[in-house]
Amino acid sequence: MRLVFLGPPGAGKGTQARRLSGILGLPHISTGDILRAAIAQDTETGRKVRDYVESGRLVPDDVMEEIVRARLERPDAAQGFILDGFPRTIRQAEALDTILAERGQTLDRAVLFQVDRQVLIERLSGRMVCPVCGTNYHRVFHPPREDEVCDGDGAKLIQRKDDLPETVASRLEGYYHQIQPVVEYYRNRGLLYELDAEGDADTVTRRLLQGLGISVEPV
Ligand code: AP5
Repeated sequence: MRLVFLGPPGAGKGTQARRLSGILGLPHISTGDILRAAIAQDTETGRKVRDYVESGRLVPDDVMEEIVRARLERPDAAQGFILDGFPRTIRQAEALDTILAERGQTLDRAVLFQVDRQVLIERLSGRMVCPVCGTNYHRVFHPPREDEVCDGDGAKLIQRKDDLPETVASRLEGYYHQIQPVVEYYRNRGLLYELDAEGDADTVTRRLLQGLGISVEPV
């Protein structure tokens, strides 16, 4: 199965992609995670994209296309993938179609996560992330067992720089402005699945599996 997850910051794309990846055995490819790793490792790409990511602006399309093309060439993506956070522009959507067409493949579904703006702000303002394994927590909705410490590896949790209140507001504005053409692109191709992504994470997982026609019990 080849899926893309679209939706505003804080909609739960990463949370659900990780769960679905575990259920289906497909790689979860988050362009945000790839960019943050490049920044943390101070690679040439990381230095190029740091200002964009930390201020919540979109990284230029040509940089993103190169990153996604390289990632989809890796063997684990041959049987399918969950692409989280890409495409975000029409040019990226067209590039993805081209990359897939070169391999005789097509996309199965584009899932649009829909969440009220106030809920997004609550989710983003409480998010904490493990800098080692990337697991997301939330101070209220999904707290770690020990305050600010990752359950999995004991690392101290951090707040993403782009989750600071002033950056969240501009990310949300940017998102609503940029995403509509991409939504229409997939709607016109009959690939769009609009997911009600409100409610707790288990409820959303159940809806997602049902909407995709996958009949397994969620984790
Ligand atoms: P990216 O990392 O993709 O960020 P985003 O799209 O803004 O999405 P988020 O990671 O903020 O949210 P999410 O929907 O994954 O929510 P999550 O599951 O964490 O991109 C970051 C930046 O990289 C961009 O701003 C841009 O600069 C750059 N970039 C990336 N891709 C690009 C591209 N294609 N082109 C150009 N630039 C690009 O959940 C949020 C919180 O809510 C968590 O705390 C979680 O625990 C909690 N939560 C989740 N689900 C629920 C639920 N059902 N109930 C309660 N709490 C929940």
